[in-house]
Amino acid sequence: MNFNSELMKRLSECISPSGRENNIREIINNEIKDYVDEIEIDALGNLIAHKIGNGKKIMFASHMDQIGMMVTYIDDKGFLRFSNVGGLDPHILLGQRVIFSDGIEGVISSEKIENYSDLKLNKLYIDIGVLNKEEAEKKVNIGDICVFKTEYYENNNFIMCKASDDRIGCYLLIEAIKQQVDSNYDIYYVFTVQEEVGLRGAKTSSYHIEPDLAISIDVTSSGDTPKGVKMAVKLGSGTAIKVKDNSLITHPEIKKMLSTIAEKNNIKYQYEILERGGTDSGAIHLNKSGVPSGVISIPTRYIHTGNELINKEDVLESLKLIISIIKK
Ligand code: CO
Ligand code: ZN
Repeated sequence: MNFNSELMKRLSECISPSGRENNIREIINNEIKDYVDEIEIDALGNLIAHKIGNGKKIMFASHMDQIGMMVTYIDDKGFLRFSNVGGLDPHILLGQRVIFSDGIEGVISSEKIENYSDLKLNKLYIDIGVLNKEEAEKKVNIGDICVFKTEYYENNNFIMCKASDDRIGCYLLIEAIKQQVDSNYDIYYVFTVQEEVGLRGAKTSSYHIEPDLAISIDVTSSGDTPKGVKMAVKLGSGTAIKVKDNSLITHPEIKKMLSTIAEKNNIKYQYEILERGGTDSGAIHLNKSGVPSGVISIPTRYIHTGNELINKEDVLESLKLIISIIKK
């Protein structure tokens, strides 16, 4: 298996923040529609692909949405104030280029700040290159959402791009679906909406599916950067099996199942404990009377920036693990 750069580049570059998942859903739908038995788009916008089988219902979930910035106010000079859609650190926003879905671009800057520890989102604004409010209003509206504008880059071992949280998870499910392996499971591949604003699509889709077990695929942080946090996860050390994050304690049977499958298939893996943040399984495991759930994580540096860094080998090991779960 090789890394499919063309597909990942396309997924990363698609502008689809939370609540505006139409564009990315269309790309994914086109990629998978010939390989699954049924596709349903539910009322919230989740894309639910079903590969019919006789066994237990397993739900895989990757979120389609990405973080962004929503315009809240346009001042007389045409500068835009904004609110976060998902988790944003004001310090990484300074000087960043952003783009709206119709191609309008801007740059983020801040009011004069004496002490940068005081930097808050409400000190920041977006400059779209206009002279006044009237001109700005011809280009953007209150409620429009922009995302980072950066270019996809890749070398032999790494990819660097925006929104790999969680387009890399979408990539992995698409690639797994295309492998067409026989399974004992009744499989639901769910591309969820609005994860970044509170695991919302995962909540409704799991209620609908009622899975017997669930695995989410998402990025996780690492502890391998200079003076980084004390965290065991490293890029290049394989796929990461989540043990705990802020939204979930992985069901012990699922943790055992994932590590046993990894060992049997010579898949390089590491355990992950994430002290902040969560993902779709956090909502799914609380569905109805509970769903044994786990997460396959892709170690990632600089999450929620325009330049998230991922090791391609870790992606391929994650794909091998997903396929090994599905296989009879
Ligand atoms: Co995220
Ligand atoms: Zn994510």
